Amino acid sequence: MGINDEIARRRTFGIISHPDAGKTTLTEKLLLFGGAIQQAGAVKSNKIDRHATSDFMEIERQRGISVATSVMGFEYRDIKVNLLDTPGHQDFAEDTYRTLTAVDSAVMVVDCVKGVEAQTEKLMEVCRMRQTPVMAFINKLDREGKDPFDLLDEIEQKLGIAVRPLSWPIGMGKSFKGVYDLFQKKLLLFEPSKVKLSGEVVEIDDLQDERLEKEIGVSEAETLREEVELINGVYPEFDTEEYLRGDLAPVFFGSAVNNFGVRELLDCFIQIAPAPQPRRTGQRQVLPSEPEYSGFVFKIHANMDPKHRNRIAFVRVCSGRFKRGSNYHHVRLDKKLRFSNATAFMAQSKEIIDEAYPGDIIGLYDTGNLKIGDTLTEGEHSLYQGIPSFSPEIFKEVINLDAMKTKQLEKGLRQLMDEGVAQLFTYEMGSRKVVGTVGQLQFEVIQHRLKHEYGASCRFSPVSLYKACWIGGDDQKKVREFVESKYRHIAKDKDGKWVFMAETRAWLQMVEENFPDVKFHLTSEGR
Ligand code: G4P
Repeated sequence: MGINDEIARRRTFGIISHPDAGKTTLTEKLLLFGGAIQQAGAVKSNKIDRHATSDFMEIERQRGISVATSVMGFEYRDIKVNLLDTPGHQDFAEDTYRTLTAVDSAVMVVDCVKGVEAQTEKLMEVCRMRQTPVMAFINKLDREGKDPFDLLDEIEQKLGIAVRPLSWPIGMGKSFKGVYDLFQKKLLLFEPSKVKLSGEVVEIDDLQDERLEKEIGVSEAETLREEVELINGVYPEFDTEEYLRGDLAPVFFGSAVNNFGVRELLDCFIQIAPAPQPRRTGQRQVLPSEPEYSGFVFKIHANMDPKHRNRIAFVRVCSGRFKRGSNYHHVRLDKKLRFSNATAFMAQSKEIIDEAYPGDIIGLYDTGNLKIGDTLTEGEHSLYQGIPSFSPEIFKEVINLDAMKTKQLEKGLRQLMDEGVAQLFTYEMGSRKVVGTVGQLQFEVIQHRLKHEYGASCRFSPVSLYKACWIGGDDQKKVREFVESKYRHIAKDKDGKWVFMAETRAWLQMVEENFPDVKFHLTSEGR
């Protein structure tokens, strides 16, 4: 098979949802269809028990699971599907944002009882920013949930994306009869079952067909006809192009735990979801079909065994063919590296691979050369863009508790930051080190891992800060003037970029007004 055929048959995506909406359950069912697992229950939830945030075994358990399920590859109808896992816990949202830079599309799971929840809103914002095509799966129809029309309105309003139902539920909760698949024009009859792979399917391509009454009952048939008419009146025909531009989300209804509606979602997904897309470097757009291999690191996973300091770097292949044992140029370090132990991820197993194609995710064992955002290429020496760091929400100063272990502390902090666990800001004045995160949990993770993996002890002292703003501007002289005038509040990030540590929102606004030539960004292209 040629490279173009290999590219055309790949679909790389992630599932986004608020915790508990059913992401793990849906993942498991998709893997069942792909034949990647044989029984339900094989996929472990990557959830951290919210009540066990200070239980370090729990954190380690989570790390173990998250490496096993980081990428789940499977084949379905000759399509190679790569499903990238995203952490459910909101404190790891940044990890999820980065994973979304490595996908070509996303599936969003919404709980029909709870509707659109906070975490989904945030993740959808990232998808919108990157114009990632999104399909929606409204889950748990076996429960009494919100009215389907209201759910669609909620998605449109809260998530700022147009919707088009491609299936429609018949009843809900106790009276849930099934769904009508508007995409493939067939009726799926619901039968609660956690073991069956699919419900009964009746081919009814015309809703006036009298068999409809027989299958779902007279009043249900009438309601379905009315509602489908309404849908066809209100929503324009589904347009794949609009979906591919990220402007329109097709919506499916089902029940993941009962394996209901999942196959229809998957069948439609492999038909319409995009194959690997071009990606931008600092210079230009790189097409997947270009002959030279290139790819970028979007995730680093440290070894669970502290005695072995190697890590796995997850690389998204963007163009060409990755070949094991070849030399590739590491753009940031400007040197050639050879990777002889590239790993591919198939559902829950890892295997050494000889080659990989655009859209594939490979794991590279690394001893400290790679960090998030790095580009490895055979082509021109230019970095892939679009792997931003976001301003953290919580800031704490690192206080070293063992002066004899300063080196270990610094090394540990540096490596954990390379992994993307948190962000480190070092003040220009006095070299104070401040760690910024999106959640409290990371501080516990850092403290624990510094102690166990690097033998360093520290504590964290809260710092009252509003945001970290990356500074830029066309006039370098003006930027330097600003830095000098606010020297006490200027820090450098891990890449040596200047950051203004704003204490309050009002103060940031004032500074923005007083220094109109300086740009303050809440995100940075991390590299
Ligand atoms: P997450 O990864 O998005 O956090 O969610 P997960 O799949 O773990 O699902 C959260 C809970 O919702 C689970 O119940 C799961 O069984 C349930 N669930 C998933 N899909 C459906 C569905 O279609 N209908 C109903 N009624 N429930 C569903 P749990 O009690 O937390 O765990 P478990 O003991 O059932 O595994």
